[in-house]
Amino acid sequence: MNTCPDKDYHLEERITEIVKSYGAKPSALIMILQDVQKHYRYLPREAMEMVAKKMRLPLAQIYGVATFYRSFSLEPKGRNHICVCTGTACHVRQSTVILEQLERDLKIKAGETSADQEFSLERVNCLGACALGPLVTANEVYYGNMTVAKIERMLQEIKNKKPAEEPVGEPV
Ligand code: FES
Repeated sequence: MNTCPDKDYHLEERITEIVKSYGAKPSALIMILQDVQKHYRYLPREAMEMVAKKMRLPLAQIYGVATFYRSFSLEPKGRNHICVCTGTACHVRQSTVILEQLERDLKIKAGETSADQEFSLERVNCLGACALGPLVTANEVYYGNMTVAKIERMLQEIKNKKPAEEPVGEPV
């Protein structure tokens, strides 16, 4: 089954464009895969095959990079990607309680994507901003000093696709 959202002609055109923008050199592979993932919200097999073809690299090498880095996903992600840090500093500040509340609110478990592809939820280790803990990111916006009480507002901000007048998130 072809799982790629815009397969065939569009896929080839898109990948050609991305590879061309960095040059088909092995040192650009990570950046190319990042752009591919940004477009599709994951790395579809067909896209990786096309990257291999355009870069004249073995598919195994593309897979090697795609599976080595945790930031890459081989499964479709939701339009909104929420990460809850459960590293030590965030854990001691109750980030697990926040994760559990999000699981209930979104009706998915950590590591899952909702059936309508609207949300995916992930548990991550240290995001490198421990002072802001407990820390949640939503579509790469940082929500520091997160509490269960702030979750509803954060989800509302995400759904509205525009920041609230006084965002609960703190970009860092
Ligand atoms: S432990 Fe959560 S940001 Fe470091």
